[in-house]
Formats: sequence, structure tokens, C-alpha cells
Amino acid sequence: MEFWEQKPATLFGMVLNDEFVALDQAERVDILSQLPPLEGTDILELGSGIGRYTFHFAQVSSHVTAVDFIEKFVDENRQANSQFNNISYHCSDVMKLDFEPDSFDFIFMNWLLMYLDEEEIALLRDKVRGWLRAEGMVFFRESCFVGASGRAFESDEITRYRSDAQYMQLFDDGFTLRHRGNVKAYEQRFGNPHQHYWLYQRA
Ligand SMILES: C[S@@+](CC[C@H](N)C(=O)[O-])C[C@H]1O[C@@H](n2cnc3c(N)ncnc32)[C@H](O)[C@@H]1O
Repeated sequence: MEFWEQKPATLFGMVLNDEFVALDQAERVDILSQLPPLEGTDILELGSGIGRYTFHFAQVSSHVTAVDFIEKFVDENRQANSQFNNISYHCSDVMKLDFEPDSFDFIFMNWLLMYLDEEEIALLRDKVRGWLRAEGMVFFRESCFVGASGRAFESDEITRYRSDAQYMQLFDDGFTLRHRGNVKAYEQRFGNPHQHYWLYQRA
């Protein structure tokens, strides 16, 4: 939490790279094109930051629940998306959340699991499974092996650069893999093919 408190509630604070404008635009187009149809769905967005994706979800879904534990990020998201009346904001640690079973059609996590430890990701995986409706889907994207710009030394105390296999091992339990890939903007700009994403369906 301390790590994120020190980051600005801006695009740079979310992308943490000097080329944030170009990367943000390219990655959003890429990632949004990998998602299932979301019209009329109930969406849970975990680690929503300042709402780079919340805006898109609010446009098409029935309702979005956006969660982040940094108040200034939640405030920025609320302000940036004030034109929508179908978003609920929760300022909370994702590990402390409690929703009714079968509450959501789609759960989205962009760069969240890499900030949680092994015990937490297993617990969150189980909770996500319980919160999803039958045939509901979860999409997550993580930096694997190295930081986003591909440099192995790009390391801080809190980020866990797991292998893609580790994430797949985790979600192969209780979910069916529907789609996977890597964010092309990072491969094109930095030669880094390890910005992995997955779309899993509740089994
Ligand atoms: C790299 S940013 C990504 C934000 C957003 N998903 C995006 O792509 O723009 C990671 C976000 O996860 C949030 N976060 C990290 N750990 C969290 C936790 N345990 N509970 C809630 N939010 C968390 C941070 O506050 C931050 O907003």
C-alpha cells in the first residue's frame, strides 16, 4: 500500500513508464479487443487504479464495481467517470472483499496479481471463482519474468515477476482456459513478449 500511496493518481502512476501515453493507448486497444462481449453484464474490476478500463466497462455493461485500496486513485476514477451512474466504487484491499456468490459475469484484473503473494493469489482465485456466475469469465494480465520494459534489473521490493506457467497452474484449477496472449505494444516497443494475459471461464 505504501508503494502505491507514493505514486501519482495519473496515467504515469498506473503505467510506471516514461512512454506512458503511447503505451496506454496501444495497450488499451489491444486488451479491450481480447475481452468477451460485455454488453449488459455485471463487472468486477479489481485494482482499478484511476479507471483506465473502468470508463470502457461503464459504457457497455449493466454495472461496474471498481475496487482499489488507494483513496486518491478511487477519487480520480470517480471524478473522471462522473458521467456514468452505473459504477460503484470500493476503496478496499481486494483481500478484504466479500461479495455474494454468483454476483458477477466478468472479473477484470490488469496488473494486480503480481502485487500479491502466493497465499493471497490462491485465496483470491477461489474467491473470484465463487463470485462469478455460471459460465462467468475472468481476465487478468501480468508482467511475467521481467518488468514491463523487458529489463531484468527493473525490480522493486513488492512486485513478483512470476512465470506464465505459474499463473496457468493456479487458474487451471476450477477454470477452463478460453484465450491467452501477450500485449503487443510491449513486444513491439521493448522486445518484451512477457506481458501475458489470460481469459478463463468458470468451470
Ligand atoms: C499497476 S496499477 C494498475 C491499475 C489499473 N488496473 C490499470 O491498468 O490502469 C495496480 C493497481 O492495483 C492496486 N492494488 C495493488 N494491490 C492492491 C490490493 N491488495 N487491493 C486493492 N488494490 C490494489 C494499486 O493501488 C494500483 O492502483
